[in-house]
Amino acid sequence: MCGIVGAVAQRDVVEILLEGLKRLEYRGYDSAGVAVLGSKDESLTSVRAVGKVKKLVNKIEENPTQGKTGIAHTRWATHGVPSENNAHPHMSHDELALVHNGIIENHDALRKQLLADGYAFTSDTDTEVVVHLIHRAMRQEKIDLLSAVQHVVPMLHGAYGLCVISTKEPETLVVARSGSPLVIGVGIGENFVASDPLALGQVTDRFIYLEEGDVAEVKRKSISIFADGKPVERKRTRIRSDLSEIEKGDYGHFMLKEIYEQSAVIKNTLSGRVSANHVLEEAFGIKAKDIFDKVNNVQIVACGTSFHAGLITKYWLENIAKMPCQVDIASDYRYRNIIVRPGTLFVTISQSGETADTLAALRYADELGYVGSLAICNVATSSLVRESDFSLLTMAGREIGVASTKAFTTQLCALLLLSLVLGRRNGMTDESEAQHVTDLHKLPGLVDQVLELDEAIKELSISFADKNHALFLGRGNQYPVAKEGALKLKEISYIHAEAYPAGELKHGPLALVDDKMPVIAVAPNDELLGKLKGNLAEVSARGGKLFVFADESGGFDDDGDYKLIRMPAVPDVLAPILYTVPLQLLSYHVAILKGTDVDHPRNLAKSVTVE
Ligand code: G6P
Repeated sequence: MCGIVGAVAQRDVVEILLEGLKRLEYRGYDSAGVAVLGSKDESLTSVRAVGKVKKLVNKIEENPTQGKTGIAHTRWATHGVPSENNAHPHMSHDELALVHNGIIENHDALRKQLLADGYAFTSDTDTEVVVHLIHRAMRQEKIDLLSAVQHVVPMLHGAYGLCVISTKEPETLVVARSGSPLVIGVGIGENFVASDPLALGQVTDRFIYLEEGDVAEVKRKSISIFADGKPVERKRTRIRSDLSEIEKGDYGHFMLKEIYEQSAVIKNTLSGRVSANHVLEEAFGIKAKDIFDKVNNVQIVACGTSFHAGLITKYWLENIAKMPCQVDIASDYRYRNIIVRPGTLFVTISQSGETADTLAALRYADELGYVGSLAICNVATSSLVRESDFSLLTMAGREIGVASTKAFTTQLCALLLLSLVLGRRNGMTDESEAQHVTDLHKLPGLVDQVLELDEAIKELSISFADKNHALFLGRGNQYPVAKEGALKLKEISYIHAEAYPAGELKHGPLALVDDKMPVIAVAPNDELLGKLKGNLAEVSARGGKLFVFADESGGFDDDGDYKLIRMPAVPDVLAPILYTVPLQLLSYHVAILKGTDVDHPRNLAKSVTVE
């Protein structure tokens, strides 16, 4: 998704801006650009390119550009196709350059006004209206850049993080935040801005997070922040940037590295949260106890892979905590007329903590009378964590591959801890909790055993590379696992994949089954295995090519009319976490055979900060 970097210094900032953009590449984008105020004549130079940041770097190498104040951007198209004209920065009269994340919903009406005032547009973007509005404000009102931005932001409906520079004020960046994150990086005699502190890890470890509605003027030696037009102070925080997280090491792709990191990060997620035999409720923070005291129902809201984590949690809450649970997709929930039962806890799940729909759902939920809001999230400084009543971090470390892997399995661990905490409060015995916790401690070792199946799964992937469709089947809490497996396959290999609860097979999808349709079954030896086997027999009888993931006790033979991948035996409650891992490996190897861009699949973004 879009990324912003800005710098004001006494040295040339082009390298800093380009390095910042490279560090934001993992978010997904389709074009990039830079604008700097020339060091000699203070004129504005802008360079933009469609495609990777590398293309922008090449362009700048061909036509060297320098400046001590500049802004840069990676764009993920929402209004207007990916093209050079639509790429940011956008300019007005060669005096202003602006970068923007988010969406200006009333851009059409604003564009009409500006056209009537004689402004000419060079792009199809919603963003371009903003830079012209600021230009018009400076000219008509005879005000400086900061005042012009303050004058314009009330006119904007939608979401924005924006940064603008002007030839009239060469040592100034003005930024504004509403609905899209922005941080100021504090330097010595130089300052920076970015949509993610990671972009500035090479120049500073001191940051100021802007809050919703803040406008700030960032100069070389001063930072002034305003809320509702009045100066405000915002806290400074230190954030260490660990480069190993954004390097692939010996792995060909971030996705593979992240799949292999899972046993280590699962240990991190459990660390400090579980003793030998029970879950430490304090890990949920100081507000947790009072809120948990009131909970008798759980509402989960999330998007994408995180939504699948929610679906699995529903089974855990019902089985372990004996508690009802509703799970909704955030983009649907936020527009519904939600009826909240007394005693309901609102839980969001998000690896990024910046997903626009999930954040909007949280803000909507805030008005609905939940007993509290809990964020299960991987980013401590994210908007979701900051705006929720309390949170449990997933400790997966930064996930770069767009297709989520380790963030998902650590979410599941965190959600299992939640289910156990609520279970204990709702009648689960100490013995039962101790058994679950003992099992949880074994999970990292079990994940390592599954990773040893990598070669066998790689071989299996050959059967998928020439297919156009695949069907994933599971029953009970393995149905969401099948959904996650299908999502992974379609995300990175572009094979159309669908997941079905196996019991629904006869109600439609069986019509699709023939010898060209690979059917993947996740089949741990749980209480529904017998039923699942019946469904798989229906597939075999229609000539479907079956691929079964099952452990030895499940009674599947090596020489059956299916291809078998032998999983380690696993306690029922952990099976959804463990059976996710081979499906991640399968989609990875199929994507490699198909030659797709595994870490940056087409049209997708890591962090979806627009609706
Ligand atoms: C994007 C990512 C997915 C992720 C989803 C929800 O689509 O590519 O991997 O599951 O957003 O993101 P969140 O950060 O809220 O988990």
